[in-house]
Amino acid sequence: MFPRLVCISDYEQQAKLVLQKSIYDYYKSGANDQETLADNIAAFSRWKLYPRMLRNVSEIDLSVSVLGQRVSMPICVAATAMQCMAHVDGELATVRACQSLGTGMMLSSWATSSIEEVAEAGPNALRWLQLYIYKDRDVTKQLVQRAERMGYKAIFVTVDTPYLGNRFDDVRNRFKLPPQLRMKNFESNDLAFSPKENFGDNSGLAAYVAKAIDPSISWEDVKWLRGLTSLPIVAKGILRGDDAREAVKYGVDGILVSNHGARQLDGVPATIDVLPEIVEAVEGKVEVFLDGGVRKGTDVLKALALGAAAVFVGRPVIWGLASEGEKGVQNVLEILKEEFRLAMALCGCQNVKAIDRTLVRTNPMAVSRI
Ligand code: FNR
Ligand code: LAC
Repeated sequence: MFPRLVCISDYEQQAKLVLQKSIYDYYKSGANDQETLADNIAAFSRWKLYPRMLRNVSEIDLSVSVLGQRVSMPICVAATAMQCMAHVDGELATVRACQSLGTGMMLSSWATSSIEEVAEAGPNALRWLQLYIYKDRDVTKQLVQRAERMGYKAIFVTVDTPYLGNRFDDVRNRFKLPPQLRMKNFESNDLAFSPKENFGDNSGLAAYVAKAIDPSISWEDVKWLRGLTSLPIVAKGILRGDDAREAVKYGVDGILVSNHGARQLDGVPATIDVLPEIVEAVEGKVEVFLDGGVRKGTDVLKALALGAAAVFVGRPVIWGLASEGEKGVQNVLEILKEEFRLAMALCGCQNVKAIDRTLVRTNPMAVSRI
């Protein structure tokens, strides 16, 4: 155990110490050569901050609204599958931490706790469901209906996974769930990614996706989903302005600029680098969010300055969970919150509205156009 875990990378080091290797590998991996994985982090460093001075920052208001719901900070939890591999309390710990912090949790379709269990553990937490579209549309429909019934406030439909990306370590490790776990949202063994099933000599998860998830989905399925629920729908995994406009045309309420934590197509840009194009394309018609590589309070500030309404974090939550369960997730979220508060103060921002485009530039030598 580290003497004291003070930043997100401390939590990652700690998680690496406590997790079984194949599980740590699954959580940390990106696709193929992991070029995008590295760039998601490096890109934030290329954007420089241009702070304002003497703006009375004795009181800072970090709160924002996300899809019509108030949250204490613009830092929410992204869907990460199978959290019970990180800690026995898994998603239940995560939702409790989100409830304490007053922020939102996106639950994965592939959680090791069910939609209902998570709702019971965090009845006052703001919860959203991440949705994969199954070949069997009834399975998909039931997930949406259960989320509605249990008070989830939005559906984040993942649009970047017709097939699972190729993660080399998962292939080497023949990744599958440990014997005591299953995907809890499904009854039948084959849909529950049961470790008793035979997924061949490969990444078990890639085989599961090939079997169950529909690679034929198109924008028409977004229309179908729009007709199925009155909950806000967010398209998760958009990387181009024209796709963002298409999503708006098909009736989504938000866009999550995401490359799936660099786990799908390697060689795509870092999300922070495509955010401006997407913000411009949607012309303020829907909220734009970002995930991928957010590890510091200054990352959050940069994303908001470039037009994100809020950001989501995936792996940091897993590292907190693996290190210290609910307390670890809470600490990770608190670290990000306090770092973001300090970044706002040092940039001269009393509230989130004051975070504007002029606070960031890519080229530190660029002549000011303010
Ligand atoms: C994910 N992600 C993901 N996305 C999704 O739509 N459904 C899912 O079940 C999962 N599962 C998942 C598991 C793990 C271990 C990781 C790391 C990621 C992607 C996730 O929602 C998010 O887009 C990224 O994690 C954001 O990048 P960072 O914060 O991990 O860098
Ligand atoms: C992943 C899937 C679960 O990235 O989305 O592993």
